[in-house]
Amino acid sequence: MATRVGYFVGSLSSTSINRVLSRALIRLAPEHLEFTEIPIGNLPLYSPDHDANYPPQALALKEAIAGSDAVLFVTPEYNRSIPGALKNAIDWASRPWGQNSFHHMPAAVIGASIGAIGTAVGQQSLRAVLSFCNARQMTSPEAYVHFTPEVFRDDGEITDPSTAEFLTDYMQEFATHIERVLTVIPRR
Ligand code: FNR
Repeated sequence: MATRVGYFVGSLSSTSINRVLSRALIRLAPEHLEFTEIPIGNLPLYSPDHDANYPPQALALKEAIAGSDAVLFVTPEYNRSIPGALKNAIDWASRPWGQNSFHHMPAAVIGASIGAIGTAVGQQSLRAVLSFCNARQMTSPEAYVHFTPEVFRDDGEITDPSTAEFLTDYMQEFATHIERVLTVIPRR
């Protein structure tokens, strides 16, 4: 049976390098992982005022997560943290109180930057948020991607064999992590 992975791209940029990275990861992932993007760009700003009556975009977000066996976050680092649009989506998904969509959800984080530290600080920030949301995060391997257009083609092809090998291993480990979590905490 296929394992359904919902993935978030933390950037709203039409030229997002993290979207390119997401394409590369999907190409390299084990075949039984089936990927669906969970959009975040159409969400209004979260307010508890909506808790009694979630808008359709936020309901769709929660349904998409509920229909996933695991979630993958592919995100830039913004000002040494995560982009506001991604935090907003996580806030929506974590509420209303008692209906946190990430509870026990297998998860992994990864990100690409044009800077040398490759989103390392942003990922720590995201990990703290997901930890509070009780997601079951893969903690190792970590992947901090220094993006260059020579290595990452727009369609997701990777021209550097060692980068491709590293990211293939990352996705294999993610598949194993999902399996381990689902063995203990089945979702369906
Ligand atoms: C950045 N960028 C950035 N890079 C980084 O390594 N650490 C950081 O803290 C930040 N902060 C930051 C804030 C804001 C508001 C922007 C717009 C950019 C640069 C960032 O890595 C670069 O713009 C990437 O291209 C962003 O990823 P996407 O949107 O292309 O996927």
